[in-house]
Amino acid sequence: MVERVLSIETSCDDTSVAIVERSGWVHSVVSASQDLEHEMYGGIVPEIAARNHSIALLPLVEEAFKKANMTWKDVQGITVTNRPGLVGALIVGLVTAKALAQSKKLPFLGVNHLEGHLLAPFLKDAQYAPPEDFDYPYVGLAISGGHTSLYHIKGLGDYKVLGATKDDAAGECFDKFAKMAGLGFPGGVRIDQMAKTGNPHAYEFPRSMIHDETFDMSFSGLKSSGQRMLEQLGPEMVKQNLPDLCASFQEAIVDVLIAKLDRAAKVMRAKRVILTGGVSANSRLRARAEEWAQKKGLRLVIPPLRYCTDNAAMIGYVGALRMARGEVSPLDAGPSPHTLESDFR
Ligand code: KG4
Ligand code: ZN
Repeated sequence: MVERVLSIETSCDDTSVAIVERSGWVHSVVSASQDLEHEMYGGIVPEIAARNHSIALLPLVEEAFKKANMTWKDVQGITVTNRPGLVGALIVGLVTAKALAQSKKLPFLGVNHLEGHLLAPFLKDAQYAPPEDFDYPYVGLAISGGHTSLYHIKGLGDYKVLGATKDDAAGECFDKFAKMAGLGFPGGVRIDQMAKTGNPHAYEFPRSMIHDETFDMSFSGLKSSGQRMLEQLGPEMVKQNLPDLCASFQEAIVDVLIAKLDRAAKVMRAKRVILTGGVSANSRLRARAEEWAQKKGLRLVIPPLRYCTDNAAMIGYVGALRMARGEVSPLDAGPSPHTLESDFR
C-alpha cells in the first residue's frame, strides 16, 4: 500500500520536490523559483524554464529527502505533474520521475496539475491544517498565471468544471498590466503592493461577463483597456498615479472573481469554498473573499501561500491517494499541454 511518495512538479517556472503522506502530511517541500531568469524577458520563456528545471531538479530531490530525514526506503512511489503545462518543462519532471522509478524499482504516476491545486487545502504540516469541518463537497476557484476556472469538487476524481476564462487568465492580466506600467515581472504581487495606498474607484475599467448567467469569465477586454489607459495617460501621469491605477485595475479583477464565486456558491448550494493558485495570494481578493464568505455564512479556506502557488506537495497528495487506489502510469506515459477529457466532467 502506498503511504508516502516522492513528488515532482515542473509544469511552469517553479521546480519543486516534496515528500508527502497519503494523509496530506507534508514531510518536506523544497522549491527553486526562476523569477530572476525570466525577469529580463518580462515573462516566462519555455526553453529557459525547461533548462533550469533540469539543473535544479536532482539537487532538490536530495534536499527533500534530507529535510524530511528520510531515504528512498521510506517512499513507496513517485508522483509527477504530467499535464497541463509547458511541454518542455513537463518533460524534464516526467523523464526524471521515470528514470528514478526504474532505478529505484518504484511505481510512478502522472498527475494533473489542476487537481493538485484543487485538493491543496487538505495538506498539513506543523504550521497549517485545514479547519476540522473542512471536507467535500466544495466550490473551488483556481486562479493562476495560466488558469482561471471554477469547479465543484465532490471527492477525489469527481470534479465538475463550472466555468472558466474564455481568454486570458487573471494572473496573466495582472502580469501584463504590471509590465506595461513598468512594474516588472512577476507583476501580480507588485500591483498588490502598489494598490494598497491607491483608490480602487479612481479609474474605470471594464468587468466583462460579470452579469452573464454563466460561470465563465473574460479578462482580455480588461487587459486591452488597461493598455489604452496607460497609453492615454502617458509615462509621467502613469508614474504619478500608479497606486490609483493599480488599485482600480485590481478591483476590476476582484469584482469579477467574487461575483462568479458568489454565483457558483449559490447555484451549487455550497457550504464550503476554496481559493487556490498564485493569484489567491492577492491581499485585496483575500479580504473581499473573507468579507463575502462571512456575510454568506460560508466556510472559506485559502491554503497558505506555499501550497497555493505551484508546489510538489499538492501533486504528491493527489498522487498518493490515487496510487493507494492502485493507479500507476506506464513507462511510455507522455506529457500533455492540456487537461485530459477524463480528468474533469
Ligand atoms: O500558481 P502560480 O504560482 O503559477 C502558475 O501556475 O501560474 O501563479 C502565478 C501567478 C502570476 O500571474 C502572479 O503574478 C500571480 O500568480 N500572483 C499574484 C500575486 N502573487 C502572485 N497576483 C495578484 N496578487 C498577488 N499578490
Ligand atoms: Zn499552478
